[in-house]
Amino acid sequence: MNWVKVFGKEILQANDFVRFADAAGRKICVIKVGEEFFATQPYCPHAGAALGYGTCKEGKLICPYHRYEYDLRTGRGNPGQGDYIDLYPVEVREDGLYVGLKESLLKRLFG
Ligand code: FES
Repeated sequence: MNWVKVFGKEILQANDFVRFADAAGRKICVIKVGEEFFATQPYCPHAGAALGYGTCKEGKLICPYHRYEYDLRTGRGNPGQGDYIDLYPVEVREDGLYVGLKESLLKRLFG
């Protein structure tokens, strides 16, 4: 597992958000809900929309295109969608937010 710093400690005080982040040159989606952070794949599995422009409601990431919803704890799409998103582990450290990316996953996603 490679732990990559994606934001400095200032992000810990930010209001809730859904946005893209750069993880060592690779785009990911980061979500803040209250005191919790989540990290997901950057694009929607339905038709490739940019999840970093999505919204979050009741623990679900909502795609900006067709409003498919994905559970932030399991990655599963709503019943009937038949799809899921990859989630990456996050860790809050003294100097900011880190995301854990497996080497095999990095190769699969980003070549
Ligand atoms: S592209 Fe995300 S729901 Fe269609």
